[in-house]
Amino acid sequence: MNTNDSVKEYYGKVLQSSGDLQTNACCTATDTPHHLKQLLANIHPEVAARYYGCGLVRPDLLLGMRVLDLGSGSGRDCYLLSQLVGEQGYVLGVDMTEEQLAVADRHLEWHRQKFGFAKSNVEFRKGYIEHLDQLGLEENSFDIIVSNCVINLSPDKEAVLREAYRLLKPGGELYFSDVYADRRVPAELVKDKVLYGECLSGALYWNDFLNLAKRAGFPDPRLVEDRPLAIENQQILARIGHIAFFSATYRLFKLDGLESHCEDYGQAVVYRGGIAHAEHRFQLDKHHLLEKGRIFPVCGNSYRMLHESRFNPYFDFFGNTDTHYGIFEGCGSTLPFDKTVQQPASGGCC
Ligand SMILES: C[S@@+](CC[C@H](N)C(=O)[O-])C[C@H]1O[C@@H](n2cnc3c(N)ncnc32)[C@H](O)[C@@H]1O
Repeated sequence: MNTNDSVKEYYGKVLQSSGDLQTNACCTATDTPHHLKQLLANIHPEVAARYYGCGLVRPDLLLGMRVLDLGSGSGRDCYLLSQLVGEQGYVLGVDMTEEQLAVADRHLEWHRQKFGFAKSNVEFRKGYIEHLDQLGLEENSFDIIVSNCVINLSPDKEAVLREAYRLLKPGGELYFSDVYADRRVPAELVKDKVLYGECLSGALYWNDFLNLAKRAGFPDPRLVEDRPLAIENQQILARIGHIAFFSATYRLFKLDGLESHCEDYGQAVVYRGGIAHAEHRFQLDKHHLLEKGRIFPVCGNSYRMLHESRFNPYFDFFGNTDTHYGIFEGCGSTLPFDKTVQQPASGGCC
């Protein structure tokens, strides 16, 4: 049985609801904002019961957007996003497991009526997220691609990221939650079907993920939020030993020519406000919380993420890239050289 088949068996036959999970890897611990709780209350109980996500895949500003959900499962996130993109938007969920798709499909009409839409804005398709080319989807056609606790299960994670890049519109983003490890997971654990199915042993070592993302066309992945996973199942804990696992949400913008590091061009932005549920503060990522009205110095990449995306109308932009001031200090990189001038012992140098 190949990896995809054993994952299908796990999500189609072994698990019937989130209560059957053996760990909390596929569980969302994030505090859910009040307005989302209201939207989640509109979701059919059978769909909600088979939710196995590990994060909140809900970036800001979704109204009217075309969204693709990779590994949509029973459809919980799709039905949440359906309400957020509104009737003019569109949500497509792709999953390979028939039993999961059957639950999602069964409640299409129920949700359409619940949301008061004349026509459903959600669709589900059977497919493999490594082979989205087989679904005939148009290149550059999605504003946002989300995924919740799925890419760790894929046997070819680089192909998934490459496909996401291909399908995103320029300025669009892959915004996804997944499980990561603090080191490379040993091969014998990767072969363990339960550890793999529980979203643990397929998890990427975080730094391998960053390199994979860069190769797939996303040079500057931005971490939005993260939390350590507390594995309480003693048998599983004994098997994984000292490996630490984390749930993390990253956002990866598709912007041609984004730089590999944060470079300083003396640019700044000011958040004007106006984004729903982010009236006072807008969060680009874990390190960029932009208060309304306050000048915020940014690197060239952050400037472009705001300037060349759907966020543009909500910001004032200052500066250009004419003058380079070096590496943007405080963004993970610093000048590698020692600035202290040492006097040669005698004579000149060279
Ligand atoms: C942990 S569940 C998460 C489901 C959903 N995102 C949620 O939050 O409830 C993983 C889902 O990904 C699907 N999946 C895993 N690998 C896949 C692949 N290579 N292609 C398509 N779907 C996949 C499984 O069928 C399963 O429904």
